[in-house]
Amino acid sequence: MYLVVEGRKKLKGKIEISGSKNGALPVLIASLLTDKECFIENVPDILDVKTTIELLQFLGKNVEFKDGNVLIKGGIKRAFAPYDIVKKMRASILVAGPVLGRKKKIKVSIPGGCLIGPRPINYHIEGFKKLGAKVEIRGGDIILSAKNLKGTKILLEYPSVGATENLLLISSSIEGETVIENPANEPEISILIEVLKMMGVKIEKGVSCLKIKGRKNLKGFKYKLPPDRIEAGTYFIISALAGENILIKNFPALHLDSLIEKMKEAGVDFSISEENLRVNGRKKLKSVDIEANPYPGFPTDLQPLWTVFMTKAAGKSIIIDNVFPTRFSYIDELRRMGAEVVLKSSGCEVKKSNLVGARVRVPDLRAGAALLSAALIAKGRTILEDFYHIERGYENFIEKLKGIGARIWIE
Ligand code: UD1
Repeated sequence: MYLVVEGRKKLKGKIEISGSKNGALPVLIASLLTDKECFIENVPDILDVKTTIELLQFLGKNVEFKDGNVLIKGGIKRAFAPYDIVKKMRASILVAGPVLGRKKKIKVSIPGGCLIGPRPINYHIEGFKKLGAKVEIRGGDIILSAKNLKGTKILLEYPSVGATENLLLISSSIEGETVIENPANEPEISILIEVLKMMGVKIEKGVSCLKIKGRKNLKGFKYKLPPDRIEAGTYFIISALAGENILIKNFPALHLDSLIEKMKEAGVDFSISEENLRVNGRKKLKSVDIEANPYPGFPTDLQPLWTVFMTKAAGKSIIIDNVFPTRFSYIDELRRMGAEVVLKSSGCEVKKSNLVGARVRVPDLRAGAALLSAALIAKGRTILEDFYHIERGYENFIEKLKGIGARIWIE
């Protein structure tokens, strides 16, 4: 099965942003902290959510997913996250924290997921050890166990999103105070904190630290996910590339400051009102360099899309990623479409180029979104292999793009 895109159609109309993927995964996993009922609204129907639900069910939870709502009941019956599930999605490692916290043991296969450079989990493991866990690696599995877990101070060498979430989850379930120093500050961390507080955990945000007072017997929760800032940023870039007069509904402008500033610099004509963004179009695009950094910096997940965007800008632009420095696997594929882009020691350099449809392979989720946006502006037909990566993170993207006039179908 391939995704086929006929490029250079003028896009026009309305697009609505779905619930946050990176918010949904840790919130679904937070249900492992309690046996009480948890109800989550505005959950995007995407592969990563389905994989997370599969994992929760494997662990013993009863999960129903219908019309964007997820209802979770029951307790943990197994302390094992198998390779078949974990290999599909790296964020599966997040079940380690809550299950270890409550059951004092868990075996997790070493995660797979997006191939965006080396993605170790050493910060997660170091944190668990500090809290009193014993760690063994055997046959591709990480085996974590603990007699007694106790809150303490953990300094993260880097503000890793996943490690901060895992440590928030485990410390919510254990006695005593845990202080995470240098935590990640992404909006998805605030989402998880809000849910953990609803469950009865005491969490204080200090200067570059989080103080967590966990407890046993946490409550259930009811929570509605906010819009996905990365999906919103993706459609913003696609609209600026190929659109004239596109309305993006539920646009989380507050969490996309860095992108909005760069769009202004590039010369895109847009306006923001209440919860919507209107992209009127663009005249001549100026080249704008970016450096992806932890929040509130430019999001690494939009870095590959910016590279594609800059193929339409006069001059040349430098793209650097300080979060995943080797996240440039999409460049070879983009070159096959005629993009003048070269890898540099710390990123890539892209020049104005005329893109032409080609057969390309999607290497990971956000690279997939970038290649898709390239296909939308390329002359002729692009065939995208392995497009399931895009389905991991973008709800209904084919219908959404068709809705604004794109010619896109599966063959
Ligand atoms: C999350 C997001 C992903 C986003 C990324 C950065 C989810 C499901 N995924 O991924 O979309 O691109 O944040 O905003 O929310 N690192 C280590 N050791 C560790 C953990 C991380 O060296 O133990 C490194 C990584 O290799 C990477 C950097 O830290 O270079 C950032 O990774 P991290 O913030 O942990 O990203 P994820 O949580 O995997």
